Amino acid sequence: MSLAQALSLLPRRDLLEGPTPIQRLHRIEDAMGLSSNGIRIYAKRDDLMSLGGGGNKLRKLEFLFGDAEMAGADTIIATGGRQSNFTRLAAAAAARLGMACELVLARMVPRGGGEYDRNGNVLLDDLFGARIHDLPAGGDSTGFAQKRAEELRLAGHIAYVATLGGSSPVGSLGYAACALEIQAQSHDLDMDFAAVVVPNGSSGTQAGLVAGYRALGLDTTRVRSHSVLAPAASAVSATVEMANGALTLLGFEASLRWDDVQVSGDQLGPGYGVPTSAMVEAVRLMASREGLLLDPVYGGKAFAGLLADISAGRYAAGDNVLFIMTGGSPGLYAYASDFLGANRKDPT
Ligand SMILES: Cc1ncc(COP(=O)(O)O)c(C=O)c1O
Repeated sequence: MSLAQALSLLPRRDLLEGPTPIQRLHRIEDAMGLSSNGIRIYAKRDDLMSLGGGGNKLRKLEFLFGDAEMAGADTIIATGGRQSNFTRLAAAAAARLGMACELVLARMVPRGGGEYDRNGNVLLDDLFGARIHDLPAGGDSTGFAQKRAEELRLAGHIAYVATLGGSSPVGSLGYAACALEIQAQSHDLDMDFAAVVVPNGSSGTQAGLVAGYRALGLDTTRVRSHSVLAPAASAVSATVEMANGALTLLGFEASLRWDDVQVSGDQLGPGYGVPTSAMVEAVRLMASREGLLLDPVYGGKAFAGLLADISAGRYAAGDNVLFIMTGGSPGLYAYASDFLGANRKDPT
């Protein structure tokens, strides 16, 4: 069976408008000058979706809401960090699909204060009408979500729990579908992408792409990530396990091994959600040269990694490289002081 046929058999709710565009980043290439080594940099605009501000998590939520509906759920419980893009989009999708939504937010980042606690995704979670459970530092969000699902069950509801980042084999199917989309666009553009570059947080995005590449018979090591949450070795293990889970759901052999998955830990810096100067520079470069917004936790670090890899000669001259813009720009408002503070550089 083909990947397209396998995907069509699985429950899914439409949350996207169709394929997201692929655009060349000419002005970034120009800014890199000779160090770009003739590499053509493209962005796949997964930030460009109309629902809830858009972003990679909507692809996962298509399959998670399909699964929830199959289970007869009337409520979705989503977990994430305080500034989670996943919970924001789960709340928006629930609003559109007419399902109740509860969010369990954990303190995963050593930050607080007005802009972090009340702005960005937190503000939007509230506007989308979700009920929010704000856990203290050290709280177990998955345990809390399961307990809350049981309480709801006793009250006559059926709750579907979607844990951290929507990264489960079911959620990652959204990016197996994206692999198919990239293959079709590559064909239409008559262009071969030597690499597809993504951030790796809870690993579902890369896992889905890798599963999709394997199911399509393509080289899975072309999907490269920059880890923003876990050390590279742990991110590889999590990605392999989830990708094999996705392949099983699709009816393909769970054949991936650790050396099929490429993850770099170079951009993690002091840890998850902690800014680095390379991230600040990458976000500023993309904004001032292309007018596009990266986010400070995921895309900013991954794009910094791509720029560093290009400058270090890790891609061959003339390669086409596709960077997946995964969205998350509401997070910028939670990190305003990192951009307007000591690291401020005037655009050139
Ligand atoms: C904007 C954005 N980009 C990338 C990622 C990373 O995706 P994953 O958790 O599937 O690795 C996330 C995850 O929260 C995200 O919100």
